[in-house]
Amino acid sequence: MADDVVLAERDGAVAVARLNRPDARNALSADLMERLTGLVEEWDADGEVRCIVIAGGDEYFAAGADIKAMRDRSFQEAMTTPTAGYWPRLWSCNTPMIAAVSGYALGGGCELALLCDMIVASETAEFGQPEIRLGIIPGAGGTQRLARVLGKQRAMELVITGRRMGAAEAHAAGIVNRVTGADDWLEQALDLAGVVARRPPIAVRLAKQAVKAADETALSAGLDHERRLYELAMATEDRIEGMSAFIDKRQPDFRGR
Ligand code: CAA
Repeated sequence: MADDVVLAERDGAVAVARLNRPDARNALSADLMERLTGLVEEWDADGEVRCIVIAGGDEYFAAGADIKAMRDRSFQEAMTTPTAGYWPRLWSCNTPMIAAVSGYALGGGCELALLCDMIVASETAEFGQPEIRLGIIPGAGGTQRLARVLGKQRAMELVITGRRMGAAEAHAAGIVNRVTGADDWLEQALDLAGVVARRPPIAVRLAKQAVKAADETALSAGLDHERRLYELAMATEDRIEGMSAFIDKRQPDFRGR
């Protein structure tokens, strides 16, 4: 497996995975997904890493699954391909993940961005699920996550027609947190990651778990779940520090305990 299909970088408590298959517009080959998933799991287990940024290049975040590898795949192979297993592993990461998107985020690339907790997008970003043009449908969460954010009607149009959405439309639709200039998308994603990294890490993980549960549970069960997670946060040393710092009018020193 080639390590350089995803470049690993560190900026203090922020870890950055740079997708790096420029000749294939960062298509998500099995090698790339294995390396990306391995890095995310390694960082998720590393107490020093407090936020993960997944980024592509200026012109493309990722052009989706590797169509060249898929074309000759039989139905039986599609049923057993290991690539299906990478998505739930990425989804189970407890550390916040930010997608830094510039250029195309198509098919699996759009699904990878949607799997992240926040998206910072350059004004050049284009999101879309073009699978229908290939005779297939999204297979890594696109139909489900778009429908949850956009509502059924708007998701249906994107999935059935393959139309792309620009950054402004994606922002207005609630998919993108911030739209940046064409030159500072990564810098702004790192700034946002830096803010997350300064927050108390246990509470951040609990908050991520609580917000994710909103999509998956009924309201009363979700409220109950949130209350238990809140009680866990009350058991941390960091919350004593946070509250003491507020009362003492000083900056908190969170230790992740
Ligand atoms: N898989 C494999 N190779 C890809 C690729 C992909 N998804 N996207 C681009 N490439 C390759 C091209 O085949 C080409 O290779 P060659 O030089 O060997 O010919 C190279 O990257 C450059 O591509 P283009 O010439 O097309 O580059 P462009 O800048 O003109 O266009 C693009 C960029 C709009 C992203 C265009 O390449 C494109 O439409 N790509 C396919 C997008 C797509 O259909 N994605 C969905 C994939 S299926 C999926 O993702 C399923 C799922 O749910 C997981």
